[in-house]
Amino acid sequence: MTAPIAVAAGAPFAKLLSVASFVPSRVVDNAEMCTWIDSSDEWIQQRTGIAERRWVGEGEDVETMALAAARTAIERSGVPAAEIGAVIVATVSYFHQTPSMAAKLAHQLGTNGAAYDISAACAGFCYGLAQAEALVRTGAARYALVIGVEELSRFTDIHDRGTAFLFADGAGAAVVGPSETNGIGPVVWGSDGGQAEAITQTSEWNEAVSTGERPYLTMDGRSVFKWASGFITEATKNVLDVAGLAPADLDVFIPHQANNRITDAMLRHLKLPEHVVVARTIKQFGNNSAASVPMAMDALLSSGEARSGQTALLIGFGAGLVYAGQVVTLP
Ligand SMILES: CC(C)(COP(=O)(O)OP(=O)(O)OC[C@H]1O[C@@H](n2cnc3c(N)ncnc32)[C@H](O)[C@@H]1OP(=O)(O)O)[C@@H](O)C(=O)NCCC(=O)NCCS
Repeated sequence: MTAPIAVAAGAPFAKLLSVASFVPSRVVDNAEMCTWIDSSDEWIQQRTGIAERRWVGEGEDVETMALAAARTAIERSGVPAAEIGAVIVATVSYFHQTPSMAAKLAHQLGTNGAAYDISAACAGFCYGLAQAEALVRTGAARYALVIGVEELSRFTDIHDRGTAFLFADGAGAAVVGPSETNGIGPVVWGSDGGQAEAITQTSEWNEAVSTGERPYLTMDGRSVFKWASGFITEATKNVLDVAGLAPADLDVFIPHQANNRITDAMLRHLKLPEHVVVARTIKQFGNNSAASVPMAMDALLSSGEARSGQTALLIGFGAGLVYAGQVVTLP
């Protein structure tokens, strides 16, 4: 008889134990932005809601930001770093092909757990959270650390009128662990590679060697806007449905901080009750891609606009095109 293969013993449920962020020091306001592009503070604020954005300053980069957010998240969780069995880094702006940033960070943080990077652009944190939840429930890891980090200022052409004002830097991190009650709802996620060109890079990195021209992000703003305000709004309704909740059960809505007009369009269709707090951190932070959801979550909790134990809907969406969302209990 074939010997049965043992099954890992997982936790009944998983939840967020902590969240933290790192906001880089350099403030780039719209006046400074308009020294590089033909635009105005009024146009940028009206079209995106962005008044200023954060870029890395002296001594800050994608790795230092990730490490800082991760350290605070681990400290807040109370979990010894050595017990973190998986470190997942979501980013599109770590330009070192191999090894992964996650493996280096895991070592610096004091764990030898599984470590890997994922590329899911602005949906990256929600992708990572879905994986962390599954790892904890299946027993593949007792605790998992998810980091969303971007240094998009290095990946943005400051002279491109279509993108320069939008993208920014920052990091957010969260620790996921076992729970007796459910704190992370089923993920709704997917992709549409048919729209791969909607947000892409101008060339491949290896071409930079021969041309001397580095790649930058490029975007078909109108297509992205249409997809996000239409298809993603429907996906957001699904996130609530699969969690078995009604709009009235929500306390907080944390959409990816892509653009305030996209958030407005979503809200018009979602018809969330008045009491629901909506994240609008794009005003000060800009669009931080994979870092935007955890940065917004931490900002709302730190300011007291949201509280631990409240129910929040997260939705991330971006280049791929890809998206992912889930309902969570705030840590
Ligand atoms: C990027 C975005 C703000 C551009 O706005 P838009 O209205 O689509 O801009 P268009 O390119 O169609 O141009 C409309 C007008 O604004 C002008 N314009 C474009 N960029 C400008 C800028 N940076 N400053 C001032 N004017 C600008 C154009 O010249 C055009 O003027 P015209 O009507 O006189 O010809 C918008 O498409 C958008 O919000 N898209 C979603 C992008 C997003 O959120 N991406 C993140 C996903 S993760």
